Amino acid sequence: MSWRNLVSKTSFLSLISRSAPQNVRWLHRSPARLAGQLFVHRDTPENNKDIPFEFTKENLKRAEAIIGNYPVGHKAAAVIPLLDLAQRQYGWVPLSVMNYVADYLEMPRMRVYEVATFYTMFHRKPVGKHVIQLCTTTPCMLCGAEEHMEFLQKKLGINVGETTEDGMFTLQSAECLGACVNAPMMQIGDDYYEDLTLKDTEEIIDDLKSGKIPKAGPRNGRFASEPKEGLTSLTEEPKGPGFGLRSDL
Ligand code: FES
Repeated sequence: MSWRNLVSKTSFLSLISRSAPQNVRWLHRSPARLAGQLFVHRDTPENNKDIPFEFTKENLKRAEAIIGNYPVGHKAAAVIPLLDLAQRQYGWVPLSVMNYVADYLEMPRMRVYEVATFYTMFHRKPVGKHVIQLCTTTPCMLCGAEEHMEFLQKKLGINVGETTEDGMFTLQSAECLGACVNAPMMQIGDDYYEDLTLKDTEEIIDDLKSGKIPKAGPRNGRFASEPKEGLTSLTEEPKGPGFGLRSDL
C-alpha cells in the first residue's frame, strides 16, 4: 500500500471513530434495523402464523371500499391500505396478519412480507400507545435531529426501537417523511410535529404523558411550509387572464 493510500485510510478510520456513533448508521445498519423493525421473522408465542386474526365487520366494509378504488383484477394494489387497516385494528403486524391480508387479496404471501418489512410505517413487533418516528435523514439531521434523538432517548429512558415499560411510547428513527422544509420533525401516530426545538419536543412528550394531544404542525408560528420571514415571490396581485398575450390575438 502506498503511503498516500495509508494516510487516506488512516484519516478515514479516525474520522469514523471521532464521529461515532452517528456514522455507524451509514456504515453498518439499515434504516429498518435502526428503527427497531423486524425484517427477519422468527416464530415467537406472540408472532406466529397461528395468531387468530380477521377483519371486524366494519373493517370488512372498509376493505371492500378500498379495493373498489382499484381496477378489477388489480386488488393486490390495495396491499398497503389493507395492511394499514389491519395494523389499526390489531396494533401491529404479526405473521398471521400478513398472511390474512395476502389471502384476502389473493396474492402471494411473500409479496405482502416484502411490503410490510420495507415500510417503517408497519410495526413488526408490539409498539406503545404513541409511536414516535423521528426523521433522521439529511435535512432533518442538519437541523439537529441527532440532538433530538439523544434528548428523546434520555427523556423516555429507552433506546431507538424500544418501548417504555408503561407501554406509552415507542421510539423509532425514520427516513425522510416528506416534510424537509419543516425540519427537524417527527411523526407521532398520524400527526406531524415540525420546526422543532428541544423545548418543543419536551413539551410534546409532556403533553402526551398527561393525556393531552398536542396541536400538530409547525411549532415556530408558520402555517405550513411558507418562508419564515414572509413571502419572497408571487407577492403581487395576479395579472389575470390574457396577461402577456399579443394584442392581435
Ligand atoms: S429529511 Fe426529514 S422530513 Fe425530509
